[in-house]
Amino acid sequence: MTVIAHLTDIHLPSLSLSKLSKLNLKQGFGLLNWQASRHKIHQQDALDLLLQDLDKQEISHTIISGDLTNLALPSEIETAESWLKTRGTPQQVSYVPGNHDYYDNGFALQNKEVFKEHMRSCDIGACLGGGSGPQDPYVRVIDKIALIGLNSAIPTPLFKSFGAIEEQTLEQLSKILKKAQAQGLYRCVVLHHPPLNTITTPQKGLNNDAALTAILKEAGAELVLYGHTHLQRYDRLLTQQGFCHVIGTPSASVGKICQYNLARYNLFDIQTQNGTWHTTMIGRGLDHKCEWVVKAEQRDLK
Ligand SMILES: [Fe+2]
Ligand SMILES: [Fe+2]
Repeated sequence: MTVIAHLTDIHLPSLSLSKLSKLNLKQGFGLLNWQASRHKIHQQDALDLLLQDLDKQEISHTIISGDLTNLALPSEIETAESWLKTRGTPQQVSYVPGNHDYYDNGFALQNKEVFKEHMRSCDIGACLGGGSGPQDPYVRVIDKIALIGLNSAIPTPLFKSFGAIEEQTLEQLSKILKKAQAQGLYRCVVLHHPPLNTITTPQKGLNNDAALTAILKEAGAELVLYGHTHLQRYDRLLTQQGFCHVIGTPSASVGKICQYNLARYNLFDIQTQNGTWHTTMIGRGLDHKCEWVVKAEQRDLK
């Protein structure tokens, strides 16, 4: 049995106005948005409650699918680096960037060693990828699960939060999916933006979702995890090898009743019997009073 924990859109509520440095236009408008509403939604108490509950679970690996920060300010990036370390070693925790982590045009993420460590293939079991730098895609093999991380975050104009996956990354993805299947591995793909165009608007979605969907349909995958919408959602994509389960997890720090789901994480219990994969999703999140973390959902993925 392997259990993968999916946390996303942490939006660490650590924005210190005393540490504001020079802001670009995107960061400036982001700050106004944070001060007007977002600081009331993303709360440290909610995140702490959720993480205390997660720490009681037996998990094999944690995947964090982006938006660790709000404006990607240097002080936030430092906080995010420290926070990532508290969640485990780079071998225990994988990360893909979100659009908010690119508010500085991706400069900090590309230059900070800590983030690179969580975004490269590593030798947990047999390794499909290799190399020593940050990789896009990267592959980590945990037991019999190939975890494939994609970077969908790109710099965007004001009021847009769309993403895109580089063409060469998609080419690599197709090869990796086929290779992993040939090795009898369960394929779990992780990215920040929703992979299907039915999930959100073009302003928020993945620019090249059609190309990604075509690869998933042709090469197959068992599970795709994403964040970004701050909503729980389940979709199913028919591939040439059966159904691919596509799941959006809410933000891990929403502590106020609003248009988004309250803070939640999802666990994926993955087992194989007679050559068939069985996946159970268990969602745990804040109750409506934001006082406790409770089991929000259990679903067998079929
Ligand atoms: Fe987010
Ligand atoms: Fe996002």
